[in-house]
Amino acid sequence: MPIPSPIAWNSDHTIRILDQTLLPGAETYRDLDTVEAVAEAIRTLRVRGAPLIGIAAAMGVVVGAGKRGSGEAGKTPLEEIARACELLGATRPTAVNLHWALNRMRRRAERACAEGEALREALISEATAIWDEDRAMCDRIGELGASLIPEGSTVCTVCNAGVLATGGIGTALAPIYTSHRAGAKPHVVVPETRPLLQGSRLTAWELTQAGVPCTLIGDGMIASRLRLGDVACVIVGADRIAANGDVANKIGTYGLALAAKAHGIPFYVAAPTSTLDLATPDGAAIPIEQREASELASWQGTRTAPAGVRVWNPAFDVTPAELISGIITDKGIFRPDEICRSERPGIDRPVVN
Ligand code: MRU
Repeated sequence: MPIPSPIAWNSDHTIRILDQTLLPGAETYRDLDTVEAVAEAIRTLRVRGAPLIGIAAAMGVVVGAGKRGSGEAGKTPLEEIARACELLGATRPTAVNLHWALNRMRRRAERACAEGEALREALISEATAIWDEDRAMCDRIGELGASLIPEGSTVCTVCNAGVLATGGIGTALAPIYTSHRAGAKPHVVVPETRPLLQGSRLTAWELTQAGVPCTLIGDGMIASRLRLGDVACVIVGADRIAANGDVANKIGTYGLALAAKAHGIPFYVAAPTSTLDLATPDGAAIPIEQREASELASWQGTRTAPAGVRVWNPAFDVTPAELISGIITDKGIFRPDEICRSERPGIDRPVVN
């Protein structure tokens, strides 16, 4: 069964998204026709995953620029685009792809205005290019990463870094889909990924749709599962990779990396080059999103913790470079300490903010 695309253009270049907060119970699509609606969808994780929020934000700039690319009364088109970028850029702080995509849209708008091009067409084509490039990067990550998965082996991941998180076949899940298509019969261990359950709700769902065998485990079961000795490697996604190779990803990734190290299991990060942030020196400088207490203290409106309990709910953690065996990008597989070398062929210095 094909996995539905998490995002699409409507014919008038408003946006249709698959509401991921309702999966796996319901496959519900929402049309977003204002920049505020796009920002709300990103903030509430209706669309989520670092590459996909970059794509959604780029498409949101088109929506925010207005039907004729002329903006609201009283504002110049560039002022209106700057307002849209500000609103969208404030939704989630950790995934650098969001800012990377918004910077591209802002620069394209400035060039279109300076050169007298049709602004709306220029913005549509830039947002579409960001999406197309992400799809191609996912394919390349899949081809390169598949070489790390022995035939018939078990791979552990975390959160969701698949079709639902990108413009293509995913990052961490791309090597798994590629080896599945090649008949190598991978099996995936999927931690549930509390508190929002991207592992059980989304990864287990999309792998099942694609016919890839998987086993769901609780987050607290990770170390025991790795101790069994049948997991060949761990592959996770990333929200931001700092210049020293430290990686921010979904909360729980750091613990998974420690458990992998303790059991001698290779730990790989898969990410497109749009997730590299060479302007951030190390993991300590990555802004970590703190989310509402209610996400941890209740589930679907029912309280699961006493009223008033103090809650710590970071959405992401940082895995230090020394725990990472390799970073699978669309430009090659690198050791974390190689990632920031500007002389490295093919890796462009991303422009952040
Ligand atoms: O809070 P989320 O669901 O947006 O977190 C997503 C992750 O942490 C993913 O692993 C990461 O964005 C990479 S997605 C290809």
